[in-house]
Amino acid sequence: KTVLVLHGPNLNLLGLREPNHYGSDTLESINAQLKQQADAASIGIETFQSNDEAVLIEKIHTLAHTPVDFIIINPAAFTHTSVALRDALSAVKVPFIEVHLSNIYARESFRHHSYFSDLAVGVISGLGARGYALALDYAINNITRA
Ligand code: DQA
Repeated sequence: KTVLVLHGPNLNLLGLREPNHYGSDTLESINAQLKQQADAASIGIETFQSNDEAVLIEKIHTLAHTPVDFIIINPAAFTHTSVALRDALSAVKVPFIEVHLSNIYARESFRHHSYFSDLAVGVISGLGARGYALALDYAINNITRA
């Protein structure tokens, strides 16, 4: 069983970037914690970040021939803009949880709409880095039971 964690644009800057919204953990430390959590449950995990919409879409396309059991995705700014990334996720039909570090509903109105939420198994927004751990906990429980 394998989980893919996808991080969208600017999330490579976590730790430096607006810590009031996104906390002080780096992406590297978030990924390392997720890896530990996955190892403890004996499941595989891959983490992937890109600032490029096409690269994220192509990464999702690889799942057509090399499937994973679950995706955890923070589409970052593409949440609010990308029909193309949404369509890629619907094409491969892998269940996913949408995660946001910040509470997007407590911020500017352009962040209130997501192109992903209605396709997601669930959405976690506003719990900081803990949101990824909670999403992974859900994924582990569901895929190991299946
Ligand atoms: C974000 C929220 C988005 O609105 C923003 O563009 C991001 C990060 C979050 O994790 O809170 O880059 O997805």
